[in-house]
Parts: sequence; structure tokens; C-alpha cells
Amino acid sequence: MTTSDATSGDDALDIAVTETDVVPVALGDRAYDIQIGAGLLDFAGDDIAAVLARPRTLIVTDENVAKLHLDTLAGSLSMADIAFDTVVLPPGEATKSFDHLRQLCGRMLDAGLERHDAVIAFGGGVIGDITGFAAAIVRRGMRFIQIPTTLLAQVDSSVGGKTGINTAHGKNLIGAFHQPALVLADTEVLDTLPERELKAGYAEVLKYALLGDAAFFHWLRAHGPALLAGDGDARRHAIAVSCRMKAAIVAADERESGRRALLNLGHTFGHALEAALGYDGTLLHGEAVAIGMAQAFRFSERLGLCPTGAAAEVAAHLRAVGLPTGLKELHNRLPSAEQLTAIMHQDKKAEGGKLVFVLARGIGEAFISHDVAEADVAAFLQEELARP
Ligand code: NAD
Ligand code: GLY
Repeated sequence: MTTSDATSGDDALDIAVTETDVVPVALGDRAYDIQIGAGLLDFAGDDIAAVLARPRTLIVTDENVAKLHLDTLAGSLSMADIAFDTVVLPPGEATKSFDHLRQLCGRMLDAGLERHDAVIAFGGGVIGDITGFAAAIVRRGMRFIQIPTTLLAQVDSSVGGKTGINTAHGKNLIGAFHQPALVLADTEVLDTLPERELKAGYAEVLKYALLGDAAFFHWLRAHGPALLAGDGDARRHAIAVSCRMKAAIVAADERESGRRALLNLGHTFGHALEAALGYDGTLLHGEAVAIGMAQAFRFSERLGLCPTGAAAEVAAHLRAVGLPTGLKELHNRLPSAEQLTAIMHQDKKAEGGKLVFVLARGIGEAFISHDVAEADVAAFLQEELARP
């Protein structure tokens, strides 16, 4: 699809034509499209108007995104004659709390939104998760639109309908499956994202390649650095490939009774690290996933499941783009191998007391394993903690 922004008349000098990829998520009566392209925010009003029951909405965003991009979204809603209120939440993981959820639900009701109205989640995964959850419960389920503004949110959290908040018991333990009505991923908003956040999002892009698409891994090796440096076409292509894979997996297994768990490649190890560090920001989620994916491949090799060399290839690419691959810098901050294994057991991915791992038979060939011996995990982690 091509979207063009052209003014008619003699002074039509400023013509911008941008390519937009459209990825459908085939979920029957809850199907929706993911649009991916540069500058989509400028045209968002028309696309949003098409899914609204009436020209009225509420934008939920965070302070950082509001400062940088709210005017553009607000302008395009106004151009489409859509009335809106705005809720600006503090940035950061702590916003995914009961307190902020209560406030947000109150603001949605104050704004007079009805069941068939839709709210807009405009931000990273934090804003998407809490707004989606509020939409799932206010008036027993309202519609919502995702306008993800981080790379992680564009390739992962805005797609597939997982929504929720954190509690003292852990991350994302209270939530709902609630699909958005539309996802608009503007690759240009990534220009303002801090480099560290961009790289953390790249880990989730790489996840798709490693779990199911070896050709995409080769493409990322060639084009990943350009994508990170700001190449718009490389970004659009990588986001579209990632979303296509996620859309196919979600369409086949919306509620994660099987295949969707493949999306947790690197997460069993990664979450244990984040939890062991008390989610203190030492590691961004994507950085923990990067280490976790490197470990999943090393572990697969150690178990004889994956040919020798694949883990080194994965780690080499992670290092080439500036992502971590091991526990080196964290050594004196991590607990013992036994304690890390115990943390894994508390994870919501443990089933019936057994640890669930996503392992690999090679690059692009991940599978879900329910029968890894505890002793093998502990021995592997021991080895990882001792790696120079
Ligand atoms: P985030 O939402 O905290 O955003 C990261 C930082 O970037 C924030 O400070 C934010 O204000 C800032 N930011 C966002 N967009 C920006 C932009 N364009 N320019 C400048 N700054 C910008 O973090 P995230 O990495 O997007 O998301 C992490 C969250 O996503 C976690 O809570 C995680 O649990 C959740 N998540 C959910 C799913 C899902 O399927 N629902 C999947 C993966 C992760
Ligand atoms: N981020 C994993 C999933 O959506 O299932």
C-alpha cells in the first residue's frame, strides 16, 4: 500500500510519499491490521476515524512521548475532526500498577467514553499494557488502538492482545487477553528513542529470526546495523517481518496453549536475571532477553540438541550490535545457580512445577521443551556464572 501526502495546486512542492506495510492479524471477528511505515502519525487521524464508532477518543501516553510526539498525533486527530482528551502518565515500569490503573479507569469514565468508543495507547510497552488492560475492564471491555513508539512495542507488545500490570508478586501477573482494533507503527518516532532502548527492542526483532526464520537472521546480520543507525526501509522491513511472524503465531494460538510460547525464546533465562536483580534497571528487558537467547543456544548445544557453532554465531551478532551475551558484568550481583533455578520456578512460564524452556535445533528452529532435567539447568548456570 502507498500513502501519499500531496497538496494540490501550483504550490504543491512538498510531496511526501511513503510506503506502508499492512500486516493482518487473522482473529475472526477480532481481526485487525498492523500498519507500518514512516510518518504514519501525520495521517493517523483518518485511519483512527475509520475504526471509531463516533469521532471521540482518549489518548493515553507517558511524559516522554507526550513531549516529543503528542502534538503530531493531536494535530492529525484534529484534522480528522476527532475530539479527544489526554491522560499523561509517568514513564517507566512502575506505572504498570494498580494505583495508575485505578486512576486511568477513572479518567476513562470521567471522559464519558462509552462501551463502543476506543482509547488510544500511545507509547511503549508500559503504556500499551496498562491501557489495553484498562480497555479490557472498563465498561466490561472497550476497544483500543495501539500506536507503539518503541521498537519493542512495535514488534512485540502492541501485537497479540496481552495486556496487564505488575504487582509485588511479579511482572504481568494481573491482566487479560484483549486485542486492539488497529496498530499503527510509525518507524519515524523511533528516531527519538534512546539508543539503549532501540537496541533492547532489536533483541526482540532478532528473537523472531532465531526462533523461526534463518533467512531473516542472515538479513539482520547484513542490515541490522543500518536499521539501528536509522535506515527507514530497513526498519520497516524488519518490523513487518517480525509482526508477520507474531501475527501468524497469535492467530494459531491466541491464548498461549502451545505454539505462542515460542515467543518466549530467551525469556526463561532472561526473566530470572531481571528478577534476581530486582528489576532495578541494571538490565532492560530486551538486554535480559539478549543474554537469555545466547544462553538458550549455548544450553541447546550443551544438551546436544543443536550443532556446535550456532551459539557462537548468535553471540557474535549480539556483540556486533552492542547487546550483552553473558553474565560477565553481573557476576558479583547474581545469586547462586541454585537460587537462579529457584527464581525460574516462580516464573509464570513454569508449568506443574516443571520448567519450560524454548530451545533450538539450529538458528530459526526453536521448540518448546517441558522435560529439561533440573540438574542440567543448575550445571549449565554454574558454568555460565563461571564464564570469564
Ligand atoms: P517503555 O514503555 O517503558 O518505554 C521505554 C522508554 O522509552 C520510556 O522511558 C518511554 O517514555 C520512552 N519512549 C517511548 N517511546 C519513545 C520515543 N519514541 N522517543 C523517546 N522516548 C520514548 O518500555 P518498552 O520497552 O516499550 O516496553 C516494556 C514493557 O512492555 C514491559 O512492561 C513489558 O512487560 C511489556 N511487554 C509486553 C508484551 C506484551 O505482549 N504485552 C511483550 C513484551 C513486553
Ligand atoms: N511477548 C510474548 C507474547 O506476546 O506472547
